[in-house]
Amino acid sequence: MSEGNIKSILNEERLFQPPTDFVKQAALSATELEQRYALAAQDSNAYWEKMATDLIVWDKPWSQVLDDSKAPNYKWFSGGELNVSANCLDVHLETRADKTAIIFEGEQGGVRRISYAELTSEVSRFANALKASGISCGDRVVIYMPMVPEAVIAMQACARIGAIHSVVFGGFSAVALRDRINDAGARMLITADGGFRGGSPVELKRAADEALSGGCPTIERVIVLQRTKQDVPMKVGRDIWWSDAIADQCDECAPLPVEASHPLFLLYTSGSTGKPKGVQHGSAGYLLNARLTYETVFDYQETDVFWCTADVGWITGHSYVAYGPLAAGATILMYEGSPTVPDAGRFWKICETHKVTVFYTAPTAIRALMRFGDEVPESYDLSSIRLLGSVGEPINPEAWTWYHRVIGREVCPIVDTWWQTETGGIMMSPVPSVTATPPGSCTQPLPGIAADIVDDQGNTVTSPELGGYLVIRKPWPSMLQTIWGDNDRYIETYWEKFHGRFYVAGDSAHTDKHGNFWIMGRIDDVLNVSGHRLGTMEVESALVSHEKVVEAAVVGRPDEIKGEAIFAYVVPCGARPSGDDAKALVKELRAWVSKQVGPIAKPDNIRFADSLPKTRSGKIMRRLLRTIASGEAITQDTSTLEDPSILDQLRGED
Ligand code: WT7
Repeated sequence: MSEGNIKSILNEERLFQPPTDFVKQAALSATELEQRYALAAQDSNAYWEKMATDLIVWDKPWSQVLDDSKAPNYKWFSGGELNVSANCLDVHLETRADKTAIIFEGEQGGVRRISYAELTSEVSRFANALKASGISCGDRVVIYMPMVPEAVIAMQACARIGAIHSVVFGGFSAVALRDRINDAGARMLITADGGFRGGSPVELKRAADEALSGGCPTIERVIVLQRTKQDVPMKVGRDIWWSDAIADQCDECAPLPVEASHPLFLLYTSGSTGKPKGVQHGSAGYLLNARLTYETVFDYQETDVFWCTADVGWITGHSYVAYGPLAAGATILMYEGSPTVPDAGRFWKICETHKVTVFYTAPTAIRALMRFGDEVPESYDLSSIRLLGSVGEPINPEAWTWYHRVIGREVCPIVDTWWQTETGGIMMSPVPSVTATPPGSCTQPLPGIAADIVDDQGNTVTSPELGGYLVIRKPWPSMLQTIWGDNDRYIETYWEKFHGRFYVAGDSAHTDKHGNFWIMGRIDDVLNVSGHRLGTMEVESALVSHEKVVEAAVVGRPDEIKGEAIFAYVVPCGARPSGDDAKALVKELRAWVSKQVGPIAKPDNIRFADSLPKTRSGKIMRRLLRTIASGEAITQDTSTLEDPSILDQLRGED
């Protein structure tokens, strides 16, 4: 963006008003929302204080709403004490003990319904098992599980005793798991023999063993849930079955009050440079905003069946599966498997069977399911759905329109929610009963969220249509606290650009004449593949760690379904392979990256060249590579190229 403001390219003029019937039943009226905006604008600390009083049960009240003495390491509700698990479970026992907290459906079928009373007992029992294994407040516990209720139970059990969890997505490789375990210095790993996804069992324990055998000196104990019943080795003295771990444990465990800013979890996310960052979230501020945004954005009603399709390995699965809805006392749906098993109607069948009322998914899933045609969803009764949500990347107007027409039957509002792992909760979104929504825009910041768009100097970009850096001008309760073990990186990544004046999200955005925000994409070298953030650096390091690779550059290429596809330019050792040799090496490198990082990081295209395009000062010309990858004509000045003859190789035309 150093080349000045970005001119916006999208031009969507339609505006969808909230449907009258929806407005009539809404949990939040336009007037109440207006009052919240007014209070937040006048005194944001007073606003957050009011929300914290209304929505959180405290063991000890806070003495200061916002301590900014060590900015940008802000502390929310300092002096206050609470327990997150008690706020998600125990607080409901008087009025909702028998209400279903979790409806679970496995990929192979098999439905479980768990009430709030049962969930509280299970969490307590498992919390006691953690304690019996020597885990105490502040210890790190890594969770590497399939999408089953026990994943949420494990997270809540950690929260109950003040242990800090770090959930690693089950699709990550052994290498990625090992790096995360070691960065966090985790004492325990919770995993499963496997999980069902995509029609066959995923081998989690095998990957876990591989990770641990590579050297994870801090891990003392591994708890293994039996899910698939596949044969897995158990290491004596280290590994214990989940069922054995809880067998003798009591189903009551007093929740431990912790400080408001006690770390609740770490979640690793990609950056443009170096290894993944352990984003650290606190307790009170995080939970407050997870609950508040859940209730506001998804128009929470007591009878809702809320289905967020995200895996607990991502932030969406933390805030809108494991924490926010449970704090509100909602019924959530969890599904273990793939959207296309046994066929592309699976999601819609689940919505019909369990009478899902609010459905929250990613644009990449919508685009993938859209391809199977309207007949698939139309053969199910989707009339229980009253609200739809989208998250992870900009939703293109075609996908929005299909979602609205076919899944929402033109009667459901759509909330396009913009946020990040770092923000902890939704920051910008329509409020479904109030906001007029143009397809493709996340519309407006929620009350108390000071989003803005600024130019290189940090001045607000006033004219609509001109793009700039998306920034947040004021701290908010669910903001990340730091990067685990690397506070300098926290400051450098999010605050340095504008000298600590505001949080830099790393996205570019513009507004329109209605003041709505449109996200244009990431500014740095971060890819958004199927709604998952991946650093180009991570894929590049994986490639160059292969013995046949000298150098690699990875860029994104627009992809209709995944949003972005991964395009890798590789300089091989020795002569550039061609024909079958080239094909074989491509296959080998794809498998290699999959093993190093995980299948989502596998390059879609690999092209070999004798060198990479560099400026005379030695910088790889990424913009040029992006142009070539997307098949567009080169308009950049290539005269500064060190070796202009490689252009044909990069285009694949030599
Ligand atoms: C990045 C954050 C937080 C949920 C999952 C992703 C992109 C997220 C939207 C949206 C346009 C979006 C941004 C953001 N993004 N939601 N509604 N519209 N872009 O979490 O992995 O931390 O990625 O996802 O680029 O910075 P994440």
